[in-house]
Amino acid sequence: MRYSRDMEPWTSFSILGRGRAGRALAEAWGGRATLLPGTARPGGPVLLAVPDGAVEGLARLFPGRCVHLSGSLHLEGVPSAHPLTSFDGAAGDWRGTPLALTGAVPAGLVAAFRDLGFAPFDLPAAVKPLYHACAVLASGHAATLWLGARELLARQGVALPGRGLAPLAEATLRNVEKHGAAGRTGPFVRGDAATVARDAAALPGDWRDVFLELGDL
Ligand SMILES: NC(=O)c1ccc[n+]([C@@H]2O[C@H](COP(=O)([O-])OP(=O)(O)OC[C@H]3O[C@@H](n4cnc5c(N)ncnc54)[C@H](OP(=O)(O)O)[C@@H]3O)[C@@H](O)[C@H]2O)c1
Repeated sequence: MRYSRDMEPWTSFSILGRGRAGRALAEAWGGRATLLPGTARPGGPVLLAVPDGAVEGLARLFPGRCVHLSGSLHLEGVPSAHPLTSFDGAAGDWRGTPLALTGAVPAGLVAAFRDLGFAPFDLPAAVKPLYHACAVLASGHAATLWLGARELLARQGVALPGRGLAPLAEATLRNVEKHGAAGRTGPFVRGDAATVARDAAALPGDWRDVFLELGDL
C-alpha cells in the first residue's frame, strides 16, 4: 500500500523501539507520541525507531501507516525521516538540524519534527547510502578520531585539565562551519613538513597511517 501525504493525520502516533532515537524523540514530543517496545503492535500511525535490519519486517506489519528513521535504508513505498543528529536517549536542542525526507512522509509527522526545530529537506532514495556514509564520516568517524587522540594521550600519562579536547573540537567545528575549508588550521594546512614528520613519527603505526592519509585529503 502506498502512502498519500495526508492519509494518516499523525496528530498522535506510536514510536516503536526504546533505544537512543526513540527515547529522545518521545521525551521531546511528550503526550503526542507513545513510546513502545519493538515487539508492540499498536494501531494508528507508527514511527519505527528500530535498528535498520528490523525495519523491513516491521514495515510489513503496518502497511501504509509507518515511517522509519534510517538514513541509509530505502524501502519502496515506506517513507523515511532521518534526523541528521546523534541521539543519546534524551531530548535535545535540535534547532537547525536537517531532517532528510524520502518518499511521501505524512505532513503531520513533518510538522511534529518542525516543532522540535528540525529543518526538513527532500533526499532522493538513490542518494541515501552516500548521504549516510557522509553522516558516518562527520559523526562516528570524527568521534573515533577524538576518542583515539584522548586514549593516545592517556597512554603517555597526559591527563588534560578542564574539558580536555572538547574546546579544540568545538572551536574547529565552529571555524569550519563559519569559513569552510579556509577554517582549517594545523601543520598540513600550513605546509609545515618538518612538524608533520615529527608528529607522525610519534604515533603508533595504525594511527600514523590515518594521520598522514587524512592530512593529505
Ligand atoms: N541514534 C542516533 O543517533 C540516530 C540518528 C538518526 C537516525 N537514527 C535511526 O534510528 C533508528 C534507531 O536507532 P537507535 O540508535 O535508536 O537504535 P538503538 O539505540 O539500538 O535502539 C533500537 C531499539 O529498537 C528495539 N529493537 C532492537 N532490535 C529489535 C528488533 N530486532 N526488532 C524490533 N525492535 C528491536 C529496541 O527497543 P525495545 O527494547 O524497546 O524493543 C532497541 O532499544 C535507526 O534506524 C537509526 O538509523 C538513529
